[in-house]
Amino acid sequence: MGKWVEGKVVNLRQWTEELYSVQLEAKIAPFTAGQFTRLAMEIDGEVVARPYSFVNGPDNSVHEFYFITVKDGPLTGKLIKLKPGDPLFIAPNSAGFFVLDEIPDAQTLWMLSTGTAIGPFLSILTTRDAWQRYQNIVLVHAVRTVEELAYSDEIRQQLDQHPDQLQFIPFVSREATDFAIKGRVPAAIENGQLEERAGLKLSADNSQVMICGNPAMVRDTQSVLEARGLKKNKRRDPGQITTEQYWKE
Ligand SMILES: Cc1cc2nc3c(=O)[nH]c(=O)nc-3n(C[C@H](O)[C@H](O)[C@H](O)COP(=O)(O)OP(=O)(O)OC[C@H]3O[C@@H](n4cnc5c(N)ncnc54)[C@H](O)[C@@H]3O)c2cc1C
Ligand SMILES: NC(=O)c1ccc[n+]([C@@H]2O[C@H](COP(=O)([O-])OP(=O)(O)OC[C@H]3O[C@@H](n4cnc5c(N)ncnc54)[C@H](OP(=O)(O)O)[C@@H]3O)[C@@H](O)[C@H]2O)c1
Repeated sequence: MGKWVEGKVVNLRQWTEELYSVQLEAKIAPFTAGQFTRLAMEIDGEVVARPYSFVNGPDNSVHEFYFITVKDGPLTGKLIKLKPGDPLFIAPNSAGFFVLDEIPDAQTLWMLSTGTAIGPFLSILTTRDAWQRYQNIVLVHAVRTVEELAYSDEIRQQLDQHPDQLQFIPFVSREATDFAIKGRVPAAIENGQLEERAGLKLSADNSQVMICGNPAMVRDTQSVLEARGLKKNKRRDPGQITTEQYWKE
């Protein structure tokens, strides 16, 4: 485990039967909000490492990672057995371009996530940059069931601190609720439901859209946005759509 930093587990927080967050103290290089690192464990004599996005802001010395246990997943099956004080290996340096430094200015920043991919957005919301550069921020969390709407206390705190700037819009696809949009994000963009709920227009001339999580949702949302004139954001050819997928389709 030579190239890894040995961190110490502070806490394992369980949200549902399948959703957990691990909190870790580790001496690693500074990271930028929105980035990911790699967590690693030795399993049956082999090092198994996977990328995870930081949920904590860069100013917080306790690192937090929000994850779902995947059936037969090699690493997540072991992560859920961790206890406070246990060692957990982490990469010395973080990586990734899903950060505000890569996103042009706009009136409204839309943060669209499924499942565990709300993590990088929670990290970004802790930064001053987010509140200084965007007049409106709309945080969308799309999950299957209500109990998967994790981090509600943290989101509530941000809403209290930025009441005129931040909106939180939950989507719950497999249960009826009286507060969430029922269904999927691309459909709600296409039929205007998301904009109506936010009271804001989503267009190429006023918005930046960050999309993270389930690759099918990322793909479908991107194509709905492209149909209304937004395009992929590239360093040499700035656009409005910036994406990160948590696995391959
Ligand atoms: C840039 C990046 C950042 C990531 N950040 C996170 C994170 O913050 N939290 C997190 O839980 N995962 C994250 N992942 C996925 C993570 O790296 C692992 O793939 C996942 O934790 C499962 O690990 P595993 O070894 O148990 O199974 P794996 O063999 O790695 O995965 C098996 C299968 O599980 C499914 N799967 C993987 N990740 C997820 C997920 N997050 N939600 C639903 N289904 C999934 C996919 O179908 C995948 O093919 C990220 C991936 C990338 C590329
Ligand atoms: N969460 C669980 O109960 C559960 C149970 C067993 C296994 N798992 C594991 O976790 C993975 C699922 O992760 P998850 O719980 O975060 O759920 P997910 O399947 O990523 O779904 C999260 C949200 O994304 C939506 N979505 C899926 N495909 C979409 C698309 N093409 N366009 C727009 N939205 C889309 C889902 O809507 P829909 O509901 O309409 O699909 C749901 O609202 C599975 O692959 C499996 O490995 C999870």
